[in-house]
Order: sequence, then C-alpha cells, then structure tokens
Amino acid sequence: MAVGIFDSGLGGLTVYDRVAARLPDLPVVYFADSKHNPYGVRDADDIYRLTCASVERMWEEGVDLVILACNTASAAALRRMQENWIPKDKRVLGVFVPLIEALTERDWGDNSPPREVEVKHVALFATPATVMSRAFQRELAFRAIGVDVEAQPCGGVVDAIEEGDEMLAEALVRSHVEALKRRMPHPQAAILGCTHYPLMQDTFQQALGADVKVYSQASLVAESLSDYLDRHPDMLGSGTEAKFLTTGEPRTVTDKATQFLRRKIEFEAA
Ligand code: DGL
Repeated sequence: MAVGIFDSGLGGLTVYDRVAARLPDLPVVYFADSKHNPYGVRDADDIYRLTCASVERMWEEGVDLVILACNTASAAALRRMQENWIPKDKRVLGVFVPLIEALTERDWGDNSPPREVEVKHVALFATPATVMSRAFQRELAFRAIGVDVEAQPCGGVVDAIEEGDEMLAEALVRSHVEALKRRMPHPQAAILGCTHYPLMQDTFQQALGADVKVYSQASLVAESLSDYLDRHPDMLGSGTEAKFLTTGEPRTVTDKATQFLRRKIEFEAA
C-alpha cells in the first residue's frame, strides 16, 4: 500500500514531511534524482527524460501512484507523460493544482468554469524552467479570470539549498524578491512554486512584507493526497516498505537530508 514521492533532490522532502504527518501509516517511497539536480536549468526534453526514468524506477518498488513533488517536473514534463507515457494502471500527479485550487478558493477537483476571485496580483517564485513553461499561468487561467501574475525565475536558490549554504540562499531570495517588486510593487499573494522554497519561507515573508499572503505547497499537497486516496483506495500499490532512494551518493544525500529536515533520513542507492 505504498505511494511514491519524486523530486530532483531534497525539496520534495518538505512535501514528504507533511504527508508523513498527515498519513503516518502510509509507506512512502521517496526518490531523489540527486545526480541530475537541479532540473530547473534544464530544457523540457531533458526534464521529461529524467523524470520518466525516475518514475519508471519507482514502479519497481510497488507503487502505482507517484506524486511529482517537483514543480519543475510537473510544469515541464507531466502533461507529456500523461498524454503518452503513463501505463493505464498507474497515476502520476503534480503539485500545481492543489496550490492553484487554494489560491482560487476551490475545493479539490472543482473543475467548474473560471471565475473572478479575491486575489488580483500574484507573485510567482519558481525555477527558470517552471517560469519558462508558463504552466502556472495556464492552470490558473482554467480556474480564475482577471488575475495578474508576475513570475520571478529564482536562479541559484535550489543549488544553494542543496549545498546547505543558507546564507547564500537567503541573499538570493532577497534579491529575487527585490527584482520582482520592481515590476509588481504590491503583490497581494506570493506563490512559492518550488518545493525547495518552504525552507526559505521566513525570508520570503520578511522580504515581501507581512501583508502578503505566502502560499507554499507541502500541507496543501498532503491534504490533497489524503483526499485522493480516500476516493481512490485502489491506487495504493503493493509495496509495503518505506524507503528513500537516490541516484546520488547515498552517504552525502543522507547527511544533507538529515540537515534539511532536522531528523535522521537514511537514503539508499536507487
Ligand atoms: N524542487 C523542485 C521544484 O519544485 C526542483 C528544483 C530543481 O531541481 O531545480 O521545482
């Protein structure tokens, strides 16, 4: 009865952490493609190829449902995977939709036509590949009208977080927020559109100011997964063992993950 959570690296652990708190009895197979991280500076074909290879490896662990806890893969590869790659008895879900549903005041899976919503000026912070895909704007347009989105590609932040260089990550976040504010001085809401960024949430909030509502994905995705599994219990795979797999060097990834979540997380070679 396992499910899979995929990220290019450690960022998806923010989602894993919330899922483990929300569904403590659910065995989770976490997969970090650390060898190829970061994805955010790669082109869409490359991201598609790497994501498919990782998800294929996850099927072998007895999971039928994989959450792409990676906005970059969700934005650049998911649609193409859903169109022609995912086997009929498997599911791959992205992390964009729960976030956009929250922003547009919708319940899970409410596919009614787009309507006016409270928020009008939204700042999006994400990797260069996610920003370039315009997937966020596309998903938003299906659900809301009249929302102005200003997107900031946050180059360097994922590398700094993966390297454990908190000071550099903070400095980069501040400069990316400043750059965005020059184009949109008063956003009402900010989307942290990368699963690495919740680790820098305080810095984003400080730089944006207390009156900006900051949305991050971890809890929203955990709620959404719990709801999905209630409706689709058949998508719980045959796997029974929770594990953390990486394409990187397991010792190094274990140390960084333990530092990242501030508790012991033991990775093994994929
Ligand atoms: N944490 C991922 C995301 O949500 C990927 C970052 C990267 O590999 O560049 O976009």
